[in-house]
Amino acid sequence: MISLGIESTAHTFGIGLIDSEGNVLANERAVFTTEEGKGGMIPAEVAEHHTFVFKDVLSTALKKADLTLDDVDLISYSQSPGIGNCLKIGAMLARTLASTYNKPIIGVNHCIAHLEIGKLLSEAKDPVFLYASGANTQIIAYKGGRYRIFGETLDIGIGNFIDSFARYMGLGFPGGPKIYDLSLKAKNYIELPYVVKGMDVSFSGLLTNLKQKYNSGTYSKEDLAYSLQETAFAMLVEVSERAMGHCGKQELLLGGGVASSLRLQDMCKNMCRDRGAKCFTLKTDVNVDNGLMIAWLGLLEYKAGKKMSITESDIKPYLRTDQIDVFW
Ligand code: ATP
Ligand code: FE2
Repeated sequence: MISLGIESTAHTFGIGLIDSEGNVLANERAVFTTEEGKGGMIPAEVAEHHTFVFKDVLSTALKKADLTLDDVDLISYSQSPGIGNCLKIGAMLARTLASTYNKPIIGVNHCIAHLEIGKLLSEAKDPVFLYASGANTQIIAYKGGRYRIFGETLDIGIGNFIDSFARYMGLGFPGGPKIYDLSLKAKNYIELPYVVKGMDVSFSGLLTNLKQKYNSGTYSKEDLAYSLQETAFAMLVEVSERAMGHCGKQELLLGGGVASSLRLQDMCKNMCRDRGAKCFTLKTDVNVDNGLMIAWLGLLEYKAGKKMSITESDIKPYLRTDQIDVFW
């Protein structure tokens, strides 16, 4: 059985193809980017981008997998959460393909898809999941039939926070890799606000503080980049470690675009080593938003008996990780 997954929650339009044994057949994407110095994403512009690129991304993915749409057995798409304008494009394509080719359709949750692809492509069995991406920052673990959120950001996501500061310093988008490169040339650690409230984290005060320090002209970009990482990542490690202790879990799985940061990976590995736990990381093409994870979660749900009609195949921009029953 072959599943085709469509990802369109935010800036990335992706198509993935996977079979029921978990063999990766294709994982293609096109990413909307903004020019250096420009502000963030405008939903209507991103959605327009997706309408331009979907045809090419789809045909490239099928070509790489050496398949046609007739060979596909299931159409999966990201149904939640995300930017409404963008989600609509993926759902539209999914409905069109499902009805034209007479295939079953399944809408899935993007955050859980990040987690499930991580379980497939790593040795993790029952991990605490540190989901560190652009818009989302959550510490998730399975308990009592659901993926529970044990901690999360109270304001902006870690990636958006890093990207905002990178843009502020004129580094362009995406900021994560640029901040990382700068950090390697740092000479000093600058003390920054460290904000952990219970199990939650907050980055907006840290962002304001970094901007003020940058404007003061007293600190180098390199030192600011380094200190940003040390502070913000330490906050994530602290909360992840506490979730592991609370749930009694011995595995940590990293996912989301920021989980590609070698510094965050290092810090998590050190923490896990200290507590005799295992740390699993993924390759960048499955850390960032991708269609493959959507294809895989759709397949898991379909095999467990989920059915969705075309009229049910809507979008749910605000549906949260912990509102979904894990029945597969
Ligand atoms: P989501 O919808 O899952 O919340 P998203 O669509 O905004 O997230 P992703 O594609 O998962 O995002 O991740 C994008 C983020 O990852 C950006 O903030 C980018 O700066 C960051 N990023 C990408 N690669 C790296 C890297 N190598 N190191 C650090 N950060 C990175
Ligand atoms: Fe994502």
